[in-house]
Amino acid sequence: MLSPNFTTSYTHFAQNLATMIVPTLFGSLAALASCVAAQSNSSQVLVVDQKSFNVLTPVPPPSQANLTTIFVPPGITLNDATAKPFHVYDNAFHDIIGPNPTLTLIARQDVNPLFHEAVVYPPTDEVFFVQNAGAKDAGTGLNKSNIIQKISLSQAAGVASLRNASGQVQVQTVNATPPVINSNGQPPFAAFYLSKLMKLPGATLYRGQIVFTGEGQGNNTAPALYVVNPRPPYNSTILVNNYFGRQWNSLNDVAINPRNGDVYFTDTLYGYLQNFRPGPELPNQVYRYNPSTGAVTTVADGFELPNGITFSPNGSYAYVTDTGAQYSNFGYNMTAPASIYQYTVLADGTFDNRKLFTYVSPGIPDGIHCDTEGNVYSGVGDGVQVWNPSGTLLGKIFLGTTSANFNFAGKGGLVICAETELYYASIAAEGAIVESQLPPQ
Ligand SMILES: *[C@@H]1O[C@H](CO)[C@@H](O)[C@H](O)[C@H]1NC(C)=O
Ligand SMILES: *[C@@H]1O[C@H](CO)[C@@H](O)[C@H](O)[C@H]1NC(C)=O
Ligand SMILES: *[C@@H]1O[C@H](CO)[C@@H](O)[C@H](O)[C@H]1NC(C)=O
Ligand SMILES: *[C@@H]1O[C@H](CO)[C@@H](O)[C@H](O)[C@H]1NC(C)=O
Ligand SMILES: *[C@@H]1O[C@H](CO)[C@@H](O)[C@H](O)[C@H]1NC(C)=O
Ligand SMILES: *[C@@H]1O[C@H](CO)[C@@H](O)[C@H](O)[C@H]1NC(C)=O
Ligand SMILES: *[C@@H]1O[C@H](CO)[C@@H](O)[C@H](O)[C@H]1NC(C)=O
Ligand SMILES: *[C@@H]1O[C@H](CO)[C@@H](O)[C@H](O)[C@H]1NC(C)=O
Repeated sequence: MLSPNFTTSYTHFAQNLATMIVPTLFGSLAALASCVAAQSNSSQVLVVDQKSFNVLTPVPPPSQANLTTIFVPPGITLNDATAKPFHVYDNAFHDIIGPNPTLTLIARQDVNPLFHEAVVYPPTDEVFFVQNAGAKDAGTGLNKSNIIQKISLSQAAGVASLRNASGQVQVQTVNATPPVINSNGQPPFAAFYLSKLMKLPGATLYRGQIVFTGEGQGNNTAPALYVVNPRPPYNSTILVNNYFGRQWNSLNDVAINPRNGDVYFTDTLYGYLQNFRPGPELPNQVYRYNPSTGAVTTVADGFELPNGITFSPNGSYAYVTDTGAQYSNFGYNMTAPASIYQYTVLADGTFDNRKLFTYVSPGIPDGIHCDTEGNVYSGVGDGVQVWNPSGTLLGKIFLGTTSANFNFAGKGGLVICAETELYYASIAAEGAIVESQLPPQ
């Protein structure tokens, strides 16, 4: 009897809740809401009984329910699901969100996907994020730089009790002018297509600075790893921009292993798939950069489109997302991976024991981070989902729209990019790798 509430609303790049969600079965299912046990005293928590959707009648065909489709269990309307965004799929999620989790809308754009990726948390009490410059709605073609913006974390935390604080937190564009063009003549910080920025690594080389991946632009700006000063004038230095003289395809994400301080990063095809890079000349792989010796080594292949990368709290596991199902301007391949793989990191820093951690639904797993307990968080087609280290879904921070990336920011804070929307979540869990835990270089 129960029909699931499916909604077509998802594509990875540049779409938003307001324009895309097609209300479906709302009213008719409201009466069934009592099927779902509510156990929390927080008005923003929804407890989902997974048995409530083990048997659906009917199970809709692929033309109606597939990778791009937001799924809400029967008896829950999409309105309920977004009004109570903390969805508990396993009791362990209560410990993660704490007794009083809150989600706050901080900023919203009509179309332009300004809130795509990055969200780093440099020592300036600011969170930086970048535009999805490859998205069609970014508007101005190949020449458009990623726009970099920032918010103050304390301002965001100050409005955490509100559901909608849009307009109350100042979103500042990071002013790259006067640009500091460094001695190698590289263009300024904001002149690149940026991919993901990351939290500070611990290596002395980067202390107090941000490291990020640049996706490259055209034939003449090679993808590269950059270190950026998080304070004006936001000057940057290239760490490495080639593999034995060859351009990478399009660097996407970067993580520092807390045990050895090395910089691990993914190379993938999105620059080409978004029409701002030439066709690929290397397999899509995971690389490792040793800042002491300058050595670049390969650590993992066999991906369709490797994307996000992170490490468990003590660095013994690596997680790499594969977004092969999303060919961007070329559409979807629904039988390709939308998956997270787990590796054991050996004492010498190499990867072993590739294992399917989880295939996500809906959408594709993009940015990825662990909390201090080793739980794994990834931005997917309906928000941020959280799994335990065995790959069991514990719960969701449900936005009803795609989150490409997010990051822990301060104690119990989570800043979530959702293309045209920017959110701040206040929960109990904390991000895994804090600078002070990292070994000195
Ligand atoms: C996937 O499902 C949506 C409805 O949620 C539909 O609009 C779309 O056409 C489907 N895609 C395919 C390839 O069937
Ligand atoms: C309810 O909320 C209060 C205060 O926020 C908290 O102390 C208490 O533990 C919560 N109870 C449950 C069952 O979550
Ligand atoms: C990009 O900028 C260059 C130099 O400013 C200009 O010559 C070129 O026409 C621009 N290309 C596009 C697609 O806007
Ligand atoms: C949030 O607040 C802003 C400013 O008051 C308003 O324009 C917008 O419609 C609100 N958005 C939602 C989703 O309520
Ligand atoms: C790169 O250069 C090749 C060869 O000149 C050209 O065909 C291609 O269009 C260029 N691609 C981009 C993205 O500029
Ligand atoms: C930025 O410039 C300052 C002053 O020249 C320099 O000390 C610092 O290393 C630079 N940072 C980066 C990331 O290039
Ligand atoms: C790292 O943490 C894992 C659990 O995530 C544990 O099994 C392992 O023993 C730890 N390794 C070290 C070297 O502490
Ligand atoms: C889709 O992905 C699968 C798995 O990677 C691959 O075997 C298949 O050839 C792809 N299909 C297309 C049309 O690219």
